Amino acid sequence: MYQSILTEIDLGVGIITLNRAERHNAFDDVLIGELAEAIDFMAAEPAVRVLVISSTGKSFCAGADLNWMKRAAGYSSDDNLRDSRALAEMLRRLAQCPKPTIARIQGAAYGGGVGLAACCDIAIATIDAQFALTEVKLGIIPAVISPHVIAAIGERYARRYMLTAERFSAAEAYRIGLIHELVTDPEALDEAVGEIVDALMNNGPRALAECKQLIAAVAWKPLSPEVIEDTAQRITRQRASAEGREGMTAFLEKRKPNWNQNH
Ligand code: COA
Repeated sequence: MYQSILTEIDLGVGIITLNRAERHNAFDDVLIGELAEAIDFMAAEPAVRVLVISSTGKSFCAGADLNWMKRAAGYSSDDNLRDSRALAEMLRRLAQCPKPTIARIQGAAYGGGVGLAACCDIAIATIDAQFALTEVKLGIIPAVISPHVIAAIGERYARRYMLTAERFSAAEAYRIGLIHELVTDPEALDEAVGEIVDALMNNGPRALAECKQLIAAVAWKPLSPEVIEDTAQRITRQRASAEGREGMTAFLEKRKPNWNQNH
């Protein structure tokens, strides 16, 4: 039983809901620990094919809990570092989850809330959502979220928004690539998430996991002979796998593949 999150599995979709609405779902050590555990559980659970990160209340996530951050600042340097590593590790687990992940965003996504969105493969927000990397305004830095945020929006926009700490709109988040889709009506958010889930459910579960590893292995690398060889090895393995054979055979036999019987 969790204290700060809710979890459920519904027709192949694992949903982790941040449930600290009175603190705008800000992360403290409890929420970070529970998220890390739930992400691991969803990653390993065969009944889960897609993971959605959502939240209750007005805001998606107000980033790190500043009471917790302030407390951690007074710890011994070992304990302070242990807490920072726990947040970094939770974000890593989300970013490297073998299943596709979707962030469902309403309201404020600040600091670590931007980090959570950036760690997910796909992010969908309502048009009135607000984003900010406010850390420097608080005299701190967006350190553990930075690899994920820079991967999502690139160095150029990271320079602007990490340095100014300005609030930016959902339309701007969409323009700079943090968000893939915007919905005008909050009621349409679940529908938009559902459409992405449906698209993902058509796809081979193993292929999705391999595809995530492929993107991570190839991104930002020059087209060297090693990269070319690695990509050849990957397709060689996947097309010879049971799932690859089934997917190609199903297409040629004009039937649904065996992972897609219910869709
Ligand atoms: N850490 C701890 N507490 C937080 C918090 C955070 N990151 N964000 C909000 N809260 C608390 C507020 O202190 C307030 O507590 P109180 O009721 O004891 O006074 C409560 O949540 C409600 O917040 P409030 O500011 O009154 O609500 P709002 O709707 O006017 O604004 C936010 C919501 C999220 C826009 C605003 O609280 C905010 O800007 N928070 C800081 C977010 C931030 O900079 N995060 C990055 C941290 S690195």
